[in-house]
Amino acid sequence: MEIRPFRAADLAEAMALLRDAFQREDSDPAFNEWDLARRLPGDPGYLPQLCLVAQEGGRTVGYIALTRAQVGESQGLALAPLAVAGEYRNQGTGSALVEESLQRAKALGEPWVAVLGGDYYARFGFEPAGPQGITVSENAFENQHLHILFFDPASRPKGRLVYCRSFYNGEGGLL
Ligand SMILES: CC(C)(COP(=O)(O)OP(=O)(O)OC[C@H]1O[C@@H](n2cnc3c(N)ncnc32)[C@H](O)[C@@H]1OP(=O)(O)O)[C@@H](O)C(=O)NCCC(=O)NCCS
Repeated sequence: MEIRPFRAADLAEAMALLRDAFQREDSDPAFNEWDLARRLPGDPGYLPQLCLVAQEGGRTVGYIALTRAQVGESQGLALAPLAVAGEYRNQGTGSALVEESLQRAKALGEPWVAVLGGDYYARFGFEPAGPQGITVSENAFENQHLHILFFDPASRPKGRLVYCRSFYNGEGGLL
């Protein structure tokens, strides 16, 4: 398996695996996780070196993006979306994508990475963001699932996490 930066030619396969991972009955046909892969490269918060794919036998089997985010005055990164194609799960691909992206982020001097997600992220060093004084919305459930990893112990901002603009719909709703 090879992990490398996303290229435009990966888009169709990346969108297909994100659709398989995230599509629900009530998914918006236009504002969703798989269309995000198409919109992100045009977003000012997109960081090409931090959007990665896992390739196996010439096929895109995993996708991850770390994009520009803010907490108060502090600039860091948000991890989303992350997905691995169904038949390739539980073989370490997701971990390899997360670890490679975090290593790259750290090497770039980024101070922190936030993620909205469950227990999966604890193994990479993420901790609940709520006790650190960081929220993502007015929604208690979402806030409970917000996690953060600090690379720079001196940079522990407090406040509301704001993703780059592709993560919000026209009404300001977070994907
Ligand atoms: C989450 C996901 C990316 C993990 O990819 P993967 O390649 O299967 O991950 P790995 O093989 O590196 O790790 C598998 C381990 O993670 C655990 N795991 C997988 N999904 C998990 C979840 N949602 N919560 C907690 N643990 C999870 C597995 O049980 C396994 O545990 P083990 O190491 O103790 O056996 C993949 O399951 C996926 O694409 N899911 C659908 C999309 C999704 O939920 N994305 C994350 C949104 S925040």
